Amino acid sequence: MNDLSNDDVLSPPPGSPLWLPDFLFGAGTAAYQIEGGVAEGGRVPTIWDTFCARPGAVRNGESGVVACDHYHRWQDDIDLVASLGLDAYRLSVAWSRVMRPDGSPNAAGLDFYERILDRLAHHGIRAFVTLYHWDLPQHLQDRGGWLNRDTASRLADFADVASRRLGDRVAAWATVNEPWCAAWLGHGSGVHAPGLADVRYAVEAMHHLLLGHGLATAALRANGAAQVGLVTNVTAVSADSQSPEDRQAARLAGACWNHWVLDPLLLGTYPEALQELWPGVSPSVRDGDMALISTPMDYIGINYYFRANVRSDGAHGYADKGLDRVERTVMGWEVYPAGLRDLLIGFKGRYPALPPVHITENGMASDDDTVVDGRVDDAQRVRYLQRHLVAIGQAMRAGVDVRGYFAWSLLDNFEWVEGYAKRFGIVHVDYATQQRTPKDSALALKALMAARRKVS
Ligand code: NOJ
Repeated sequence: MNDLSNDDVLSPPPGSPLWLPDFLFGAGTAAYQIEGGVAEGGRVPTIWDTFCARPGAVRNGESGVVACDHYHRWQDDIDLVASLGLDAYRLSVAWSRVMRPDGSPNAAGLDFYERILDRLAHHGIRAFVTLYHWDLPQHLQDRGGWLNRDTASRLADFADVASRRLGDRVAAWATVNEPWCAAWLGHGSGVHAPGLADVRYAVEAMHHLLLGHGLATAALRANGAAQVGLVTNVTAVSADSQSPEDRQAARLAGACWNHWVLDPLLLGTYPEALQELWPGVSPSVRDGDMALISTPMDYIGINYYFRANVRSDGAHGYADKGLDRVERTVMGWEVYPAGLRDLLIGFKGRYPALPPVHITENGMASDDDTVVDGRVDDAQRVRYLQRHLVAIGQAMRAGVDVRGYFAWSLLDNFEWVEGYAKRFGIVHVDYATQQRTPKDSALALKALMAARRKVS
């Protein structure tokens, strides 16, 4: 296999399957991270509104109250996606705008997303729509949230309402974004909303999130959805040494970070390694749950950012001990494109039923809050994207069926507990003026889109 190139242009090597016209390029966002307008259009509060108000929970006490003001600027933002020549755009639909607490649809919320989807269609851009990108309505949290099995059914109701009205404009649905983060960060470590910290909660929340995926899939398909899948975050794992302890730690870390979500979806079982990690902790699985959870998907969305280097930490624990002298982003995340290639090839081996893959998120935060003469130099991001595209091409040549790539994110936005300090956008946002400025990475992507059109 070729070395991953260090080129500072965005251009898959000649002959790469990424040049094929049906490979989709896009960029992504999520409702709470960009919309603002939290008290408009009948939106109800979410667990993130609540969590952001908790002192010390989010850097600088920031929140999504204004964010990128996309609620008012959506048209310009969609036109911006079009101006970059992208094939596809990934957004999330806020549960809190679409469903009223009594379970009835909120017309103003549906109208908002319908206008966005119509604008995307006007430009010929395919819409990838996520239903649950972490913004659970607070009234559902008040009844137990993801610890309550009933929340899975409420997600299916939301899927039904959203797809009845919007389904004919959606190329692909994702039921849930990153269940690992929602379950573990939200209920295990407690660093994300709703801020609960007990491994038993995390295990139960995961089961209900996955059950919600299965039930929502059925609701979407009943309404004729084009494509249905789920988006999961995956982490490349290396062992800090070849000692049996460190190798065992790496195995457990991989089970937690990757297989905890993928095994139930694609094998219909939870990984046995979770019992080694958390002896005696298991979710309340009822008859039929695992069959529902493992309903075949049309595609799987993979979000990839970094590698962790793991060593043993006590009896069954593991700790991420970062490697020295490797390139990192301002998040502290190692830049390791080969990890994406190796994970994809590994998943193809582990999961005979692996559906086609979309890389639904990949990107990095950098210190690029400087606009000089209308230009934002984010050379590290251009290289990052380029090297990951090369890695994806290599995985495809090794037989993995990858259909699309979405940069995270279209805009600088509210990076959850990091607030606005961490900028993931390919487009810079000046939060004082809400001015958008495409960074060099966006311009490189635009040039790639133009070059591709010429080739095809
Ligand atoms: C995962 C999430 O889906 C997204 O919301 C977040 O901003 C990025 N990764 C970066 O952390």
